[in-house]
Amino acid sequence: MSPPFPSSQKANPDDRRTLKTMKLWREKQGRDARVDEYTAGNDPVLDLELVPYDCLASIAHARMLRAAKVISAGETLALEKELRTIMSAARAGRFKIRPEEEDGHTAIENRLVRRLGGSGKKIHTARSRNDQVLVALRLYSRDKLDETRTALARLVETLNRLGKTYRSARMPGYTHARKAMPYSVGRYFRAFADALKDDLALIASARRLNDQNPLGTAAGYGVPLAIDRELTTRLLGFRKTQRNALYTQNSRGKFEAVILFVLSQVMLDLQRLAHDLILFSMDEFGFFILPERFCTGSSIMPQKKNPDVLELVRASLAVVHSGYFRVMEILKGLPSGYHRDLQLTKEPLILGFKHTLKTIGIVDLVLGELRVDKGKCRRACTEEVYAAEQVYRLVGKGIAFRDAYRKISRLY
Ligand code: ARG
Repeated sequence: MSPPFPSSQKANPDDRRTLKTMKLWREKQGRDARVDEYTAGNDPVLDLELVPYDCLASIAHARMLRAAKVISAGETLALEKELRTIMSAARAGRFKIRPEEEDGHTAIENRLVRRLGGSGKKIHTARSRNDQVLVALRLYSRDKLDETRTALARLVETLNRLGKTYRSARMPGYTHARKAMPYSVGRYFRAFADALKDDLALIASARRLNDQNPLGTAAGYGVPLAIDRELTTRLLGFRKTQRNALYTQNSRGKFEAVILFVLSQVMLDLQRLAHDLILFSMDEFGFFILPERFCTGSSIMPQKKNPDVLELVRASLAVVHSGYFRVMEILKGLPSGYHRDLQLTKEPLILGFKHTLKTIGIVDLVLGELRVDKGKCRRACTEEVYAAEQVYRLVGKGIAFRDAYRKISRLY
């Protein structure tokens, strides 16, 4: 197919002026500024996270347009150079998105047009902001899932180390918040290592789902131009190309929900650990001693060493899990195709990653300096904790379980 315009087309200097704060869509009449503000919402801030990923995808897209002979080699190079400049500006916190630009995608394109004129205007060939935001989110999520996996694997190691150190230290196990049977401090910590290993498997499966290239599906119905979608898939290192354009659009939010569900599982395990640590470090238990460096004081009670860090770990589950519900609530009312509603699935995803990553990091630090009072743990294993063992000793001597149980129960 012949390119829709000659690749040597020169920039018209006038265009640079009119495009300064232009929207990506044609404006038919003036709009109330409050509409801009309302529809942009938090995008000018949130999209700062996505700008580097949009630039990466745009570079791959430009190379694909070059291969399709839509743009020249020179234009591709110029676009790539400018996109890399934007990427480093964004990473250094120097890229600004003006509210009237709506979002990061528009801000990037406006800058390309301002700097490069005509070639900047060609980058949007064969794509829409709908697949543009999708691809940026997929690349962002892939990175963040990898960061989460690395941090979590480190935490698993810390827990395994505690498991080994305290393998033979006794402590009571509890059911219904009452002493139940003897267990070991080491096995207590290993319970969390095992839980997080399952979470790592969930992360791997969310990563696999997310690892599909949406670029080139445009608004959700493809483009009337022969484009090589496999090329951008390869360039961006995606596992596969997401083929059906409409489903690609419909999977926005669905993948975010899966990711947030998985992150909620991580947070659920960490909140349980946090609650246990708060409880077991109370004076009344004294099993664990929280590192003082990670405790906070009180403005009125000089003796206090409060576990605020662990309390915020506990509450952070709510932030992540409610994000999952927020995405599901937005999705459940939507028919096929793109709808602006989807924009609001971005914030819970970004917040979900932020809270989970920070929480994993701080829990790892606390555990790294946690001390265990083995004596208190052992002394808490009072006689009744061994009642079930006494029963089984009788069973070992050939007494029927029910009879043995009744016999021992008379002692307590
Ligand atoms: N900021 C928008 C979002 O996150 C980008 C896509 C806008 N697309 C559109 N058709 N209005 O959804």
